[in-house]
Amino acid sequence: MKKILITGYAGQIGTELTMFLVNKYGSENIFGTDLKEPDEKLLKICSFKKLDVTNKDEVFAFVDTNKINTIYHMAAILSATGENNPALAWDVNMNGLYNILEVSREYKCSVFIPSSIAAFGPETPRNDTPQDTIQRPTSMYGVTKVAGELLADYYFKRYGVDARGVRYPGIISHETLPGGGTTDYAVEIFYEAIKKKKYTCFLEENTVLDMMYMPDAIKATVDLMEADPKTLEHRNAFNITAIPVSPKGLADAIKKIIPEFTINYDIDPVKQAIANSWPSHMDDTIARKEWGWSPSFDLDTMVKEMLEKLEIKLS
Ligand code: NAD
Ligand code: SER
Repeated sequence: MKKILITGYAGQIGTELTMFLVNKYGSENIFGTDLKEPDEKLLKICSFKKLDVTNKDEVFAFVDTNKINTIYHMAAILSATGENNPALAWDVNMNGLYNILEVSREYKCSVFIPSSIAAFGPETPRNDTPQDTIQRPTSMYGVTKVAGELLADYYFKRYGVDARGVRYPGIISHETLPGGGTTDYAVEIFYEAIKKKKYTCFLEENTVLDMMYMPDAIKATVDLMEADPKTLEHRNAFNITAIPVSPKGLADAIKKIIPEFTINYDIDPVKQAIANSWPSHMDDTIARKEWGWSPSFDLDTMVKEMLEKLEIKLS
């Protein structure tokens, strides 16, 4: 039986991943951990323990006590917060990851290591970004994501640790707010569209970035972890993509449902510079081929469901 530890489970992805895994494996087999308290909904379905991933002793004791054999490592500092505090981003994203890989080696755990569109940089081809290409990111977050990809590969090749991962695009969801990233506008815009019928965006109107709706992100995460290892040539850092969209494109899709919605722009230069260095659309052929990846939501189906779910949540 799987005994699953989720780090950073109170975050944007961790919350919905936990809900999915509790449904699939039963709450007694799911161990949610984070630095911060989760919301009520999560506390009701799954045990919670405060666990700082940068504390190696705590991480080892937790895995040992609870007989963990699978880890979804979601604890991280995201791009915008990371530019405000690069030292913290390095500490959590690198030392935290190192502890998770070390404990996975010692206790023979399978481990999911998320990477990001942020692992690319200005010299990378922005459109149809290949799986294997130049990676020279310019944010501290991006630097830690490339290093994390390499470290995960190293632990597999050197120690046989079953480390797997994807490069998520910006994730759009309605359950938990995003935690300080450059793609956060693509979630905020929905809340403001419902509450105020207008939104001021911190990115330029034509900045196309790769995005994905949360159910597809969860499907990719769990499908990869359950894929037959014999089919995996890459294992880590698979490009996955679904919805390449700009702020204007997203606003136009929202206007189809809320015609009075308006958007204007007040550019944040730090976030804009980060966005300009990221792919607008990754080539995910390798993920499709090696483990059957395919998204279910496009722009219009995602926007429709986001607005429906948030209408209920905010009413
Ligand atoms: P998030 O910021 O919403 O959640 C991260 C969680 O980690 C938070 O709940 C935070 O409290 C926790 N945390 C921070 N420091 C910690 C520590 N020292 N110990 C334990 N917990 C700590 O992030 P997310 O969006 O859920 O991202 C999950 C993973 O997916 C990250 O690796 C992120 O880089 C990656 N990713 C996310 C996106 C996205 O759009 N959400 C896109 C690409 C990649
Ligand atoms: N959504 C993330 C961020 O903006 C991308 O990794 O930081």
